[in-house]
Amino acid sequence: MSIFVTGGAGYIGSHTVLELLRERYNVVVIDNFVNSSRACVERVKNLAGRDFTFYEGDVRDKALLAKIFTTHNIDCVIHFAGLKAVGESISIPLSYYDNNLNSTLALCQAMNKYGVKRIIFSSSATVYSGDNEMPLRETSKTGDCSCPYGWTKYMCEQILRDASFANKDWSVVLLRYFNPLGADKSGDIGEDPSGIPNNLVPYIAQAAIGRREFLPLYGGDYPTPDGTCIRDYIHVADLASGHMAAIRYCESHTGAKEFNLGTGKGTSVLEMISSFENATGVKINYKIMDRRPGDLPVSYADPSLAKKELGWSAQKSIINMCADTWRWQKQNPHGFN
Ligand code: NAD
Ligand code: UD1
Repeated sequence: MSIFVTGGAGYIGSHTVLELLRERYNVVVIDNFVNSSRACVERVKNLAGRDFTFYEGDVRDKALLAKIFTTHNIDCVIHFAGLKAVGESISIPLSYYDNNLNSTLALCQAMNKYGVKRIIFSSSATVYSGDNEMPLRETSKTGDCSCPYGWTKYMCEQILRDASFANKDWSVVLLRYFNPLGADKSGDIGEDPSGIPNNLVPYIAQAAIGRREFLPLYGGDYPTPDGTCIRDYIHVADLASGHMAAIRYCESHTGAKEFNLGTGKGTSVLEMISSFENATGVKINYKIMDRRPGDLPVSYADPSLAKKELGWSAQKSIINMCADTWRWQKQNPHGFN
């Protein structure tokens, strides 16, 4: 069975490609390296001990998609490619709408043309509105997104729902990831943010290795037990296995379906700092700063639908996530380069 992975050189994509190779799928990857590195592709091949076909290019390039869909007998698409930085999406919204929407449209058009009927899409907890009760269920309110990035995920979900409505034999799985972290246990691949990290744990890891003087902790006066925000952190390897479950689901279902991929457990920023310290033995310096605009006090998933329908649930603990992040960071203090 052949799986076409867009954005397969990126953080979640590379861990999923590794899992696909380990599960003996044939894998075809496209990435334009706008936020990733060639070195990652080589490391995945070495870790898996298997080769795969890699195309350097843009998912919006229709001629390249035509070449890929006619060269390979694709059974299923996993669409990771996209721009994902919340703050950047507010500064350059048109680039976000162009990249994220047009890549999804180009893929759907190619699937239509070449008779590919299964697609798994990287959506996000960011599609949920800010006024929902916790935990977030797939039926919770969506929209009112806080940034253009969130709207692109919301709109891509709708594009894919409409495409599956018009093509009754399509199977569309919309995976809403919560907060991914961690790395492959080898420490050879992991998250390698360019510039100053936006997300909590990459920042903690860079503070621990000495690349950042201290962690700016955004807000210590939230209405939570310790005053810091609560999130649902999930190991990237658990996310990768969620995609394996989604591939199997697509084989026996049609239509479009949303699933939360989270653990269902909330962890505060202060709890994350102390877990990282416990897992690594490294002290993290932090300073409490003003709140970051747009942050919700609490966000965590109800992951029971994925358990029931996909037969999937997250297995790894916060300590696993911290230890694996730290192994990657220590072995690669400056990321892939
Ligand atoms: P990433 O930036 O590491 O990976 C995305 C990959 O897509 C990169 O390798 C990039 O070079 C590539 N890419 C982007 N636009 C492209 C295009 N037009 N053509 C070809 N390649 C392109 O991000 P990630 O963390 O691995 O996220 C993967 C997906 O999951 C994204 O769609 C992201 O929005 C979504 N997601 C991520 C998170 C998270 O916290 N990491 C949370 C929820 C959803
Ligand atoms: C962010 C994105 C969200 C995306 C999610 C998963 C924002 C507003 N939202 O959410 O769209 O789906 O990542 O990738 O960026 N924190 C610090 N110091 C830091 C970084 C973060 O204190 O240097 C705090 C934040 O204020 C927040 C928590 O850590 O309370 C988690 O932040 P982050 O890792 O950015 O994830 P989200 O805010 O959940």
